[in-house]
Amino acid sequence: MPIISKRSRRLRKSHSLRDMVAETSLSKNDLIMPLFFKAGSNVKEEIKSMPDIYRYSLDLLVDKARELEDLGIKSVSLFPCIDEKLKNPKATEALNPENLNLEAIAKVKAACPDLMVMSDVALDPYNSDGHDGLVNPESGEIENDSTVEILAQMALLQAQAGSDIIGPSDMMDGRVGAIRKILEKNNYPNTLIMSYSAKYASAYYGPFRDALDSAPKAGDKKTYQMDFRNKVEALKEMEGDITQGADIVMVKPGLPYLDIVALLAQNSSVPVAVYNVSGEYSLIKNGAAAGLIDLDAAITETLTSFKRAGASMILSYFSEYYARELSH
Ligand code: PBG
Repeated sequence: MPIISKRSRRLRKSHSLRDMVAETSLSKNDLIMPLFFKAGSNVKEEIKSMPDIYRYSLDLLVDKARELEDLGIKSVSLFPCIDEKLKNPKATEALNPENLNLEAIAKVKAACPDLMVMSDVALDPYNSDGHDGLVNPESGEIENDSTVEILAQMALLQAQAGSDIIGPSDMMDGRVGAIRKILEKNNYPNTLIMSYSAKYASAYYGPFRDALDSAPKAGDKKTYQMDFRNKVEALKEMEGDITQGADIVMVKPGLPYLDIVALLAQNSSVPVAVYNVSGEYSLIKNGAAAGLIDLDAAITETLTSFKRAGASMILSYFSEYYARELSH
C-alpha cells in the first residue's frame, strides 16, 4: 500500500463536507432577470428562439415583476419590443416621453418599489436600421457623438420614470460620462449606471434580436462592440467607464468570456456584472430538451461559474427558474 500524505478526496467525501469547503456560493440575490415587453393588454407571447421566455404586455409584465419579487429576485432589466411602425432612422420614439419603455419602468416601479429596476439605453429597439446608434445616411457609419446626445436624454427620461439602474448597452464612446453629467445636472445623483463595458460583437445575441425584432438591417456591430480576440482592451473600456461615473461594470456575453470576467473582477474598484446572454440560454435549453444535458445541473453549474470567475451579479434568463426551482 502506498503512503499518500495528501488526499484531496478527503474533502470531497460527503455532501456536508463539500458544502463546508465550497469556495463559491450562488444566491438568488446575485441574479437579475431580463424581461421583454410590448404594447397591448393580456399578451403573453413566447419567443420562438428562447423556450419559456415571453414578451408580455404591461399588465402581465407588472404581474411578472411582482411574482419575481415574491420569489426573492432583487432586480429586473427591462427591454421593450417596439412596434415596427414606430421605428425610424432617427429612433425618435426613444425620446418620446410617453413611450412604452418609460411607461413600463413607471408601472413596475409603482407596483414593486423595492425591486431594483434596470433600464436599457441603446437605440436598437427604436431604430429602423437595427443599430445601437444613428446610421449616417451617406457613409453608413454608426455616428458616435450625435448618438451619445440621444442616449443621455434617454437615460434622463428613464431616471425620471423611476429607473434605479441605467444600463447603457450601446458601446458608443463617452456615453457613461454624458449620462452621468445629465443625471447630476438634473438632480438624479442616486441613479446608478451599470455600464455594458466589455460588450463583445457576438454570435450569441441572435435569439435576443429575434425577441425584439432588432437585428441590424445592414452590416454588423463590429465598429462599436468589442472584437472577441481582445482582452487588454476590456481593461481600457472598464477604466474609462469607471472614470466617467459607472457604478457597476459588465462583461457580455458570459460563458465564452469568463477570462474577461476574472480579469475585470481582479482589477476593478467597482462590482462586476456578467450577462449570460440569449444564445447561451437557448443552447442550454435546447440541449436539455434534446436529452443531451441535465437542465437543472447545467443551470446551477453555469451560474456558479460566473460567481467563481468573480462576478458579483448575473443577468440571466434562468434567474426566475433558478429562484423558483433550484435555490434552497
Ligand atoms: C442591444 C442589446 C443586445 C443585447 C442586449 N442589448 C443585442 C445586441 O447588441 O445586438 C443582447 C442580450 C442577449 O443576447 O441576451 N443594445
